[in-house]
Amino acid sequence: MIERTFVLIKPDAVQRGIVGQIIERFERVGLRIAALKLVWPTKEIVDEHYPNVEQWLRSVGEKALKGYEKQGKKVEEDPIEIGKRVKRMLLDYLTSGPVIAMVLEGNHAVKLVRKIVGPTEPLEAPPGTIRGDFTKDSYVSADTLGRSVRNIIHASDSRKEAEREIRIWFSESEIIDYERPDIYVILGKDYKKLKKE
Ligand code: CDP
Ligand code: MG
Repeated sequence: MIERTFVLIKPDAVQRGIVGQIIERFERVGLRIAALKLVWPTKEIVDEHYPNVEQWLRSVGEKALKGYEKQGKKVEEDPIEIGKRVKRMLLDYLTSGPVIAMVLEGNHAVKLVRKIVGPTEPLEAPPGTIRGDFTKDSYVSADTLGRSVRNIIHASDSRKEAEREIRIWFSESEIIDYERPDIYVILGKDYKKLKKE
């Protein structure tokens, strides 16, 4: 189904000058750039982007605990407490420099973009994914250095999350509707039937 997703190229990637290489990967699979801008995020926008909801804090903490376990590191900390710490570090990470915010549209865009991006911890991200190809950062290294995992990029992980995030970063007038003629070749001339509502 044709849908939209939200992507943020994080400050480490902008500073390393790899923005073009990242965007190229989305363009070549047929995802259409519907909106794009360079912004230096404020604490307020990052705070809204990563909400203080228990479910998110817990899942972030649990991811870290699994990562520690894989590295043979024993940590007994409440996942929510880890989540709160990660949230504070994310505020520093994402306000440390400009980011590229994007809306991408295409067939199964949410799932496809997550696949191209790869799993959260770069050490576990396979080669061929953005996170796996551009860094090998890990939860253990991030923890030792007292910072959040520098994993190059953010991508929404559901349609609901995508729509919420798009509203945070873009106004409707910044999202542009136009055609990419090669989509007809990739999906067939009736591809608009795949458009949701
Ligand atoms: O970005 P993704 O959806 O894959 O992961 P998340 O669970 O939504 O976490 C958001 C971001 O928090 C990650 O991309 C990392 O930058 C950071 N994080 C971290 O620094 N340490 C963790 N233990 C978990 C997440
Ligand atoms: Mg996420």
